[in-house]
Amino acid sequence: MAGVEGRVVVVTGAGGGLGEAYAQLLAGEGAKVVVNDLGGARDGTGSGTSMADDVVAKIRAGGGEAVANYDSVATAEGAAGVVRTALDHFGQVDGVVNNAGILRDKAFHKMTDTEWEAVMQVHLFGGFHVTRAAWPHFREQGRGRVVMAASTSGIYGNFGQANYGAAKAGLIGLVNTLAIEGRKYGILANAVAPMAATRMTEDVAPPELLSKLSPAHVAPVVAHLLSDECTDTGSVIVAGGGQVHRTQYFQSKGVQRRAHGR
Ligand code: NAI
Repeated sequence: MAGVEGRVVVVTGAGGGLGEAYAQLLAGEGAKVVVNDLGGARDGTGSGTSMADDVVAKIRAGGGEAVANYDSVATAEGAAGVVRTALDHFGQVDGVVNNAGILRDKAFHKMTDTEWEAVMQVHLFGGFHVTRAAWPHFREQGRGRVVMAASTSGIYGNFGQANYGAAKAGLIGLVNTLAIEGRKYGILANAVAPMAATRMTEDVAPPELLSKLSPAHVAPVVAHLLSDECTDTGSVIVAGGGQVHRTQYFQSKGVQRRAHGR
């Protein structure tokens, strides 16, 4: 895959799962990668440095360039720290992959404010904060790439995921506007709704299905969206198990009605 060599890419939540696969592929293709991860549990509790450090060590052992960052994307300060790591270590930032994520699943009638807010903070606010921190640099250099981790839960809904689905749909809404505002500055923004076997999905699908859903199937899609060759913007791509689809809304032909009283 061409087009990411020498580019500096931030991958949030890259200490495992899909983010690790993205970071590994990008570094293997010659990108310089900021491996961000808060290092907590699946529900977002706790923190630590070992997840990001382990991925950086693996990338460096393979001859790639990477640096770790442990900030939380859920705050503006944390997100600024993530982008600052790219600037301090590699002197620029060319792309951000807003991949960090947590789950706090609960049926809507039982969902607490805390469960709603925690998921919004990491996914929707995290995507906003990190992208906003990188955006002035993208505009100045006349080039940038944004990839948001969306989800079919945001596109179609899913039981127990009112918080998560709303956050993921929000990221698609954000991408739509970033694509419009970024176009004249050479900034492309797209969303990927992945399907992959990770700690996030280990108990939601049967093992025989998960065995076909390696994160490595999704990584080339994300790498393409970050590459110089990419021309897509404002797209929502569903990717998993080797399948890649574009998802779009459509408006029906509709009917023409007369205004009331005419
Ligand atoms: P994962 O749990 O392996 O990865 C998420 C990573 O984000 C973890 O390493 C975690 O430590 C990190 N993280 C959590 N909160 C953070 C914060 N505040 N700041 C920085 N890092 C933080 O899960 P997976 O499956 O790799 O998910 C990656 C992304 O893809 C998530 O946004 C998820 O919602 C999305 N996704 C995954 C699907 C799948 O099939 N695995 C399906 C649809 C969406």
